[in-house]
Parts: sequence; structure tokens; C-alpha cells
Amino acid sequence: MIIMAVESSCDETAVALVRDGREVLADCISSQVELHKIYGGVVPEIASRKHVEAIYGLADAALEQANLKREDIDAVAVTYAPGLIGAVLVGVNFAKTAAMALGVPLIPVHHIRGHIAANYLAFPDLEPPFLALVVSGGNTLIADVRDYTDLKILGSTRDDSAGECFDKVARVLGMPYPGGAALDKTAQQGDNTKYSFPLSKVADSELDMSFSGLKTAAINLIHNADQKGEELDVPSLCASFTETVREMIVPRVMKALDQTGHKTLAIAGGVAANSVVRAAFEAESAKRGVRLCMPPLKLCGDNGAMIGAQAYYEYLAGNTADQSLNAFATMPVDQ
Ligand code: KG4
Repeated sequence: MIIMAVESSCDETAVALVRDGREVLADCISSQVELHKIYGGVVPEIASRKHVEAIYGLADAALEQANLKREDIDAVAVTYAPGLIGAVLVGVNFAKTAAMALGVPLIPVHHIRGHIAANYLAFPDLEPPFLALVVSGGNTLIADVRDYTDLKILGSTRDDSAGECFDKVARVLGMPYPGGAALDKTAQQGDNTKYSFPLSKVADSELDMSFSGLKTAAINLIHNADQKGEELDVPSLCASFTETVREMIVPRVMKALDQTGHKTLAIAGGVAANSVVRAAFEAESAKRGVRLCMPPLKLCGDNGAMIGAQAYYEYLAGNTADQSLNAFATMPVDQ
């Protein structure tokens, strides 16, 4: 089954062609990152307009890349939630039109389920059940993936996502948006014990996380030093900050592994590219005899292929939509 998959939930427009949820035939992405850089973050209105401009060309490019014709498409899938609502709507409208014109099923896909499904592309033998950690620009959550379309949230951030936290601190340090990768690189030259940041705990929940206190503490430290004319050791600040993010995430995931008894951990989302987080998961998983799945960096960020992978299993589970499909800014992943 060949699925054309569309992703437009934030600042990447993407169209992919995926066979049977596992084989990527084409993966075309148009990133708007350069465009939003001057604003220090994504401007929703601009994102929507750029999706409109890019999406048709990307669909044609995907068909050309896969050497396929429109008639070869068996279904059209699309991210319908969560995301910037105007941006998601562009993809949803395109997918509805394409499905109607081609006379094929329409498959709505939850963006976070897509991030987890990036692992199905990278690890062909990976099958549920397993534990998943999603650490992206918009979300941070730990999920028990009981089956392809049966997920249970075990813990999630109560406020900001880890990615948002990286990006805001990087921005205050003058790094270009999205600053996570630049902050990671700078941190590699620093001492991660030089600055101490608060490690928040969420009352009554062992697995929920909180990043806003850490974000505010880091930003205040930078502003205070600036006002007093004190020089900061930026690499060490980045390293200490990253260490606190690691301390927030990694032990909770290990606890979730203990609670569920899962022997496989799949990690997804842009922050999974962080060198400290990656190294920590590699070490902890090896210690516990847990199989660690981390997709290559190009599958960690937003892409259409991951939506096509999840779409196949949503289709098998009967989760298709009609032309009344709408877009949603928020939606629980286990709904
Ligand atoms: O998954 P993604 O592309 O977008 C969402 O769906 O949200 O994740 C983007 C996030 C951004 O916050 C970016 O700064 C962060 O991933 N990121 C990193 C690194 N590479 C990307 N954060 C920390 N360290 C990195 N190396």
C-alpha cells in the first residue's frame, strides 16, 4: 500500500510516499527555518502562507522522486493535530482535496504518533510493545506504546517542552533560531558543573516533568550577568543547563522502563539529537540490557515519512476520515 503523507504542523512543509509503513519511496521537505530566523521563532501567519506556496510543488516532487504517478497512490495521510492551527489546516485541506480527487482513503495522523513511528522506518524489525520518549520543540512525553495505535501517556511536561526551553535559552544567548543544536555544540566546550540550576519536581507524579523553572532560571542568570556587566562562561552555562535537562528526562524514562518492564526504548523528536541526552540514553540502556532505538537525525525532525509510517497502521486499525476532517491545535496522543 502506497501512502502519500503530508506534514505541515509547524515550520516544515513535507510530503512523502511510504510503502506499507516501512519503506520510504520519497521524502520531500521544505524548511522555513531561515525565514523565521530573523524573528527568533516561528511566526504562525508566515508559516501558513509558506505551506500554501510549497505544498503542491512538494507533492509533485515526491511523485517524481519515487518515479510514481498519481494513480499509484492508495491513500492520503495528513497530520491533523497538534500544531499551529493555521499551518495544520493547510496540510489538512490539501490532503482532503487530494484524497477526494484521487478517490482514495484519507488517514488523519497525530503528529506525536508520527514522531514515534519514525522508529519503524529506522528499525524495520521494531514492533510494539515498547516505551517511547518524545522530546520535540512542542512536546515532551513518555508513552507506553502498547500497540501501533494504542498508546498510554505515562508522563509528560506540565509546562514547556524541552525543545522550547533549549530554544528560548539559546535565543537569549544570541544563537539563531532554533537554537537547540547550536547550544548543544557550544556546551561541548563547557564544564557542566559550573552553574547550578533548579531541578523541578512535579508533586504527586514520578514521571511528569517541568521545564519552565529551569528556563526562567537560565534566562534570569543571563540577564542578571548582563545588567551587572559580569562575563558569563557561556559554554559552561550551556553544559550546566543541558545537564539539568538530562537529569529531568533520563531518570524518569528509566523509572518508566522499570514500571512497565519494557526492554525496548524508542526515542523521537528534535531534542533526541542532543549529544548529552543521546549519550546518557546509550549508557543507561546498555547498563539495563534495554534495546535503544534512536532514529537518524534526519528522521528526528519533522518530516512526512514518519506520518506515512504511522498512517499505515492507523489505516489497518480502521482509523480513516471523511471530508469533514478538521485540524486541531491540541489533541491527546492517546485519544
Ligand atoms: O521534532 P522537531 O523538529 O519539531 C517539533 O515537532 O517540535 O524538534 C525541534 C526541536 C527544536 O526545539 C530544536 O532546537 C531541538 O529540537 N533540537 C535540539 C537539538 N537539535 C534540535 N535540542 C537540543 N540539542 C540538539 N542537538
